[in-house]
Amino acid sequence: MVDRRARLAALCGIACIVAACTDTEAPSEPAPAPTHGAAGIGDAYYPEAGNGGYDVDRYEIDVRYDPGEHELTGDTTVVARASQDLSQFHLDLRGFAITSVEVDDEPAEFTREGAAELVVTPANPVREGTEFRTRVRYEGTPVVANRGQLGGNGWYRTPSGGAYVFGEPESASFWYPANEHPRDKAAFSLTATVPEGWTAVSVGRTGKATTKDGWTTTTWTEDTPVASYLTLFAVDKFDVETATLADGTPVRNVFSPGADTSRAAAEHTPRIVEFLESHFGDYPASTVGGVYLDTNPGFALETQGTPTYPLDADADLLVHELAHQWYGNSVSVHSWADICLNECFAGYATWLWAEETRDADLDARYRTQVANMSDGLWSLPLYDMGAGNEFGAVYQKGPVAVHALRLRIGDEAFAEVLRRWPTEHAHGNARWEDFEEFVEQVSGEDLDEFFQAWFRGTERPAEEHLHPKPR
Ligand code: ARG
Ligand code: ZN
Repeated sequence: MVDRRARLAALCGIACIVAACTDTEAPSEPAPAPTHGAAGIGDAYYPEAGNGGYDVDRYEIDVRYDPGEHELTGDTTVVARASQDLSQFHLDLRGFAITSVEVDDEPAEFTREGAAELVVTPANPVREGTEFRTRVRYEGTPVVANRGQLGGNGWYRTPSGGAYVFGEPESASFWYPANEHPRDKAAFSLTATVPEGWTAVSVGRTGKATTKDGWTTTTWTEDTPVASYLTLFAVDKFDVETATLADGTPVRNVFSPGADTSRAAAEHTPRIVEFLESHFGDYPASTVGGVYLDTNPGFALETQGTPTYPLDADADLLVHELAHQWYGNSVSVHSWADICLNECFAGYATWLWAEETRDADLDARYRTQVANMSDGLWSLPLYDMGAGNEFGAVYQKGPVAVHALRLRIGDEAFAEVLRRWPTEHAHGNARWEDFEEFVEQVSGEDLDEFFQAWFRGTERPAEEHLHPKPR
C-alpha cells in the first residue's frame, strides 16, 4: 500500500509539471466517490471467502459461552486498515443474531447476505489508508459443522458436553466476524468466559484465569499474524499440562477427559520440535502443545502453536501438524489452489521422521508407493486441483512427489530448499508458482517439465521423472 501511494504521488507530480508547462489550468477532478468493498478477497475457489477493501491488523474478541445452554454471546472488534475509500464493506460471520454494529464508535447499518456475509455500511465512509474499528455484538446458538472433504468445519460437541469449533478452509466465521482467508493474517486476542468448572482453550499465550460469580475468564493473545482458520475455540473439562521448551517457548497440552490414549504421543512434542527445527529452521510459533480431543471429527488441524487432535493421536500425526507450523502457518497459502505448499510438506515431514527414528529407507518407500499408486490418484493434480478437491491427492501423492523432487535436485539442494523456504517467507504468504521458481533458483536447474509431470499433471509421470538421476 505504501508503494502504491508513493507511485501515485510521483504520477501526480508529473501531471502537475505538465500542467504548469502548458500553462493551462488542470481541471480539478472531483475525488472519486467511496465504493463498496468486495464480498470476496479474490480466491478463485471460494469467491465469497474473505473480503476486499481492507486489511485486518488485529481481532479483539470477547465471547461468553455456556456449554449447557449451547449459547454464545460475542463482542468482537476488528481493527483494520482500509485499502480503498469504503462506503460499505463485508465481514464473514455464520449464524447468530446481531445486536449491534459500530464503526469507530458510531452506530452502523448492517445486513446479512447468503450463509456468511455481514454487510456493514458505516455512518461515514472510511478513507483509504486509515485504521478503523468495527465492533460487532452478537448472540445465539452456533451453527453446526458443515460437511466437507475429510469432515466438516464449524461447531462440534464433545462427549462431556463441551464444544469446539475448528476447520479448514473456514472456521473463524463460525464464532467471530472475520476476513476469513489466509491472505489476510492478523494478530489475535480473545477474552473467553465459560461457567466455572469448564476450561476454555484457544491459540497464543494465555493469562491467569479469574473466576467471578460462577464464570471463569481467560485471555489468549497471539501477536504473530495468524490465518483465521488456524484460530480455535474449545471448551471442555480439560486436563491442562504446562511446561517450557529449552528456549523458553511455553508448552501447553490439554486433554479432554477421554483422551488418555494420546498422552504418550504428546510426550514426544519437544523432541519433534527439535527434529523439525533441524530441517526447517527455528520454530516459528510463539507457543507449542496440543488440544487432544476424545472424539474424532475426521481430521486433525494445525491450529497455531497448538494443533487440535482427534482421538488416538500418534507421534506421526504430531510431526505432521507441527510441520505445518512452518509449512502452512508461518508461510501461508496465497490461494487455496496452493494447498500442496502445506500438505505435501507436512506429509513429507513424517517421511523424514521415519528416516530419523526408524531408519526407514525412503527410496524403497518411494519405489513402493510409485508402483502402487492408482490411476485415480495419478489423475489428481497437486497444484490447482479445483475447489473442493484440495485434500484429494496431497496426503498420498504429495509426499511421494516431494521425494521425487529430492531425488531430482539431490540431497544438498533439497535440504537448502526445506530450510530456506520457510525462513524467507516467514509469517507471510506464498504461491505454488513462487515455490517452483525458488527451487529452480536454489538448484540452478530448469524444472518446468518435472513440476509439470509431478505437481500439475494428471497422469503417471514419464519414466525420466519417476526415476530421475540426480546430478
Ligand atoms: N490441514 C489438516 C491436516 O492436514 C486437514 C484439514 C482438513 N479439512 C477439513 N475441512 N476437514 O491435518
Ligand atoms: Zn496437514
